[in-house]
Amino acid sequence: MNFGVIGAGQMGGGIAQVAAQSGFSVVVQDVKQEFLDRGRAVIEKSLAKLHEKGRLTGTPEEVLGRIKFTTELSDFADCDIVVEAIVENEAIKAQLFRQLGEIVKPDGILASNTSSIPITSLATASGRPERFIGMHFMNPVPLMQLVEVIRGYSTSDETAQKVTEAARAMGKTPVECNDFPGFVSNRILMPMLNEAIQCVMEGVAEPEAIDQIMKLGMNHPMGPLTLADFIGLDTCLAIMEVLHQGLGDDKYRPSPLLRKMVQAGLLGRKSGRGFYSY
Ligand code: NAI
Repeated sequence: MNFGVIGAGQMGGGIAQVAAQSGFSVVVQDVKQEFLDRGRAVIEKSLAKLHEKGRLTGTPEEVLGRIKFTTELSDFADCDIVVEAIVENEAIKAQLFRQLGEIVKPDGILASNTSSIPITSLATASGRPERFIGMHFMNPVPLMQLVEVIRGYSTSDETAQKVTEAARAMGKTPVECNDFPGFVSNRILMPMLNEAIQCVMEGVAEPEAIDQIMKLGMNHPMGPLTLADFIGLDTCLAIMEVLHQGLGDDKYRPSPLLRKMVQAGLLGRKSGRGFYSY
């Protein structure tokens, strides 16, 4: 299997790593060499940890040896499946898929790891809507079991089947759903995170208290504000905007505090500060 990943950030790096661990030949692309270097360093660290714990098949060098890092989109020409994991912005993703539709071999499948952007409109941009699908991994990719597989309006059964098989080969559990704003995972998760942010804004409780109440009270592995910091507040805001616009109801309105923190550059873990400091 020739597997392509676009974007070497939090998600792209993890997807590339897991694909290489399962024996796929992987190409990862990003816009700048420094982003590729950063992505590679994260993968190296994660592989070393897995190796130490005896949870890696083969050596870290063997797995890394299956990943090609590149800045050229033309390296995707021979890929069977290409998963996009770049910034959560519809116009930028659509422009990328217009280019990929011209580059990747005609029977290659194009997939998006988007958290919320309509699969059907990205599929149209790609020019190959039958061979387009949502392949939504969870963060951190090497540890999380689920892949939400999202069928666009025209996705073929064959495409869904191939992507489901690839996800299983990567040791994941794929679950299918249809293309509605936020799909299933983020339509249900994000309003909860947004409400936790609203509680901070209204002074209902301190962030630590909100997280502790939800962790201990609901048996969640981490509190909603810790999780929002982990996902990235810019990504959370982008998803809330898609839900608000796509579903119309004001219950999906992004918290003004969320908006303000993103404006201030407080993006969570990746910027060093969000609801907590890192
Ligand atoms: P990130 O900010 O860590 O990484 C994005 C990467 O894409 C960066 O390295 C950036 O340089 C690169 N990039 C941007 N534009 C590009 C282009 N035109 N061509 C090639 N590379 C480009 O973001 P993250 O968190 O990895 O998110 C990526 C996607 O995954 C988004 O669509 C997000 O909604 C989705 N997602 C995020 C999750 C999370 O917990 N952060 C969970 C599941 C999905």
